[in-house]
Order: sequence, then C-alpha cells, then structure tokens
Amino acid sequence: MKQKKELIVSAIQNGTVIDHIPAQRLFKVIKILNLENIGSQITFGTNLDSNQMGKKAIIKISDVFFDDNEINKIALIAPAAKLNIIRNYEVVEKKVVEIPDKIVGIAVCVNPKCITNHENIVTKFTVVSKNKVQLKCTYCEKITDHENLKLH
Ligand code: CTP
Ligand code: ZN
Repeated sequence: MKQKKELIVSAIQNGTVIDHIPAQRLFKVIKILNLENIGSQITFGTNLDSNQMGKKAIIKISDVFFDDNEINKIALIAPAAKLNIIRNYEVVEKKVVEIPDKIVGIAVCVNPKCITNHENIVTKFTVVSKNKVQLKCTYCEKITDHENLKLH
C-alpha cells in the first residue's frame, strides 16, 4: 500500500528525530533517554507502517541534540534506530546507534543466582561482543548473550 505523502508526525524546525524504533519499545526508549524530564516539545508516533520492520515508532525532540554516549544507551533495545539531526527544517546529519562498551541497567543477568536477580541492585555489564551481543556481568562474571538477553 502506498503511503500518503504527508507526515503522520509533523516536521520539526530544530532538534533530533529518532526513527526506526521497534514499536513495542517506544516507551522504554522514552524512559532510557529520560524524556519525561525534558522541557522541550516532544512528539511521537507508534505502530506506524515501516517497509523494513513492519511496525515502527518515531520520536521527535525539538531543540535537543544528544551526546553519542547518551543516545547509544538505546542501542540494545532499538538497534536499528536512525537519528536525524534537524536544523532549520533540514536533515543536516544522519547517525546510527552503536552498542556502548558498558551497559548500566537495561538488561537482566542470565544467572539466576546473580545478586542482581535477588536484591534491588542496578545491573552492570561489560560488552564483550557487539554484533552478536554478549554482556559480561560485573557482579557474577557470567555471560548473557543475544539468545538469552532479557530487558528490564
Ligand atoms: N523530519 C522531521 N522534520 C524535518 C525534517 C525531517 O521530522 N524538518 C523527519 C522525517 O519525518 C523523517 C526523518 O526526519 O522521519 C528523516 O527525514 P528524511 O531524511 O527527509 O526522510 P527519509 O528520506 O525518509 O529518511 P530515511 O529513509 O533515512 O529514514
Ligand atoms: Zn550477574
């Protein structure tokens, strides 16, 4: 089906557009980027049709330009996310997200005996492999890989 030639979520003048977020992860992305506490205009859409991923979500944040470190926090939950930097209504830069070297929170340790699964402790991992995700727990040193990766 051909899409209508108008934007479902309006264009912004300046800021960041995060596109190609898996539809069911929209609210997690909002949480990880702490968007609840930003005073800028934010518009979003979800369950939008996407040729590449079926259903996708998009977030547009006016007047905010994220550090790479900040934005890369979403790489685990939205690996296909595309960033568009908008200045004066034009897309001036496109970026992809990259899995960082350390992951704090976000993922669950695979080890049922790990302290993080029994006490209220924020998980911490060192990323040992990025393309097939492998995370090494800072607390128990067990490896959580892409096949048994669960997100908080
Ligand atoms: N966008 C926006 N405001 C603007 C310009 C662009 O919100 N002033 C959004 C568009 O809605 C789109 C994204 O930024 O979601 C990227 O814009 P553009 O590169 O023009 O679109 P596409 O060519 O469809 O991008 P791609 O194929 O890389 O996803
Ligand atoms: Zn652990």
